[in-house]
Amino acid sequence: MNLIEAKNMSFTYPDGSKALQDVSLEVKKGEFVGLLASNGSGKTTLLRCINGLIKPQSGEVMVDGAPVSRLSQKTLFQRVGMVFQNPNDQLFASTVSEDVAFGPSNMGLQKDKVRSRVEDSLKAVGMEGLGRKSIHNLSFGQQKRVCIAGALAMHPEVLLLDEPTAGLDPMGEHKIMELLQKLNNERGLTIIMATHMVDMVPLFIDRIYILSRGKVLREGTPEKIFSDQEMIRDAKLRLPMIAELIELMKREDGIHFDRTPLTIGEARRELVKMIPLRELKKQ
Ligand SMILES: Nc1ncnc2c1ncn2[C@@H]1O[C@H](COP(=O)(O)OP(=O)(O)OP(=O)(O)O)[C@@H](O)[C@H]1O
Ligand SMILES: [Mg+2]
Repeated sequence: MNLIEAKNMSFTYPDGSKALQDVSLEVKKGEFVGLLASNGSGKTTLLRCINGLIKPQSGEVMVDGAPVSRLSQKTLFQRVGMVFQNPNDQLFASTVSEDVAFGPSNMGLQKDKVRSRVEDSLKAVGMEGLGRKSIHNLSFGQQKRVCIAGALAMHPEVLLLDEPTAGLDPMGEHKIMELLQKLNNERGLTIIMATHMVDMVPLFIDRIYILSRGKVLREGTPEKIFSDQEMIRDAKLRLPMIAELIELMKREDGIHFDRTPLTIGEARRELVKMIPLRELKKQ
């Protein structure tokens, strides 16, 4: 059964902007799904509908078979965690620890349990030792990490992340993605992540929904999605950089590749295969 299912959802903002049009999405337990789209395509609106912050005018969202509209806000927020695109929409306590503790405290956990969840979550995002710091004095990247820690501290079944790595430094970006991958692999956390960072997608994400102008253009594995270059262009996206290079070598230099590698690791393997053995450094 699908853990999250959205059926024929449409959402129009009061000013008439049609942000979602007949969007359907299915996510199974334990999947790591990406919503890949350019700016203004409806990613944030879709995530907000999934966790019940806004209600679609038509269609509905089901969590584990139950319509979101029939779940209490408390149950929903506990089961479906959300990391907002803008930290200002999420952080409100005065210190880092207080903010991360808010969710677990509201769940009625005992003080020592709350404290250990706060410590574990801050450690997971590389913010250990900064619990007493004022939220106002954090850098943007640090604020993003605290938002992720706050969501993790709830131990949700599903985590919705709205561009979690935007604004992080390259190392921070990779670390957060590795953390999400670990939570997905080891704890079976189901993840739905909005992003427009195409280079990262093939490394971490199992399945992608491409959105464009509020509609689902295509759904599938990164291999399937990135093999349709016309659709990618139509969605105002591009191939991962390394795949762009390989496509250029195919087109301009007539070099044959059985398939287009999407990651540096795959590209390296394909390129090494083409180099005569005598040219390779002896092991
Ligand atoms: N509060 C709002 N009022 C009116 N229109 C809105 C509102 N929020 C979003 N929109 C419009 O809805 C559409 C989808 O916006 P949304 O924020 O969901 O896109 P997005 O894919 O998350 O974009 P980004 O990559 O820039 O975050 C856009 O056309 C946007 O202008
Ligand atoms: Mg957005």
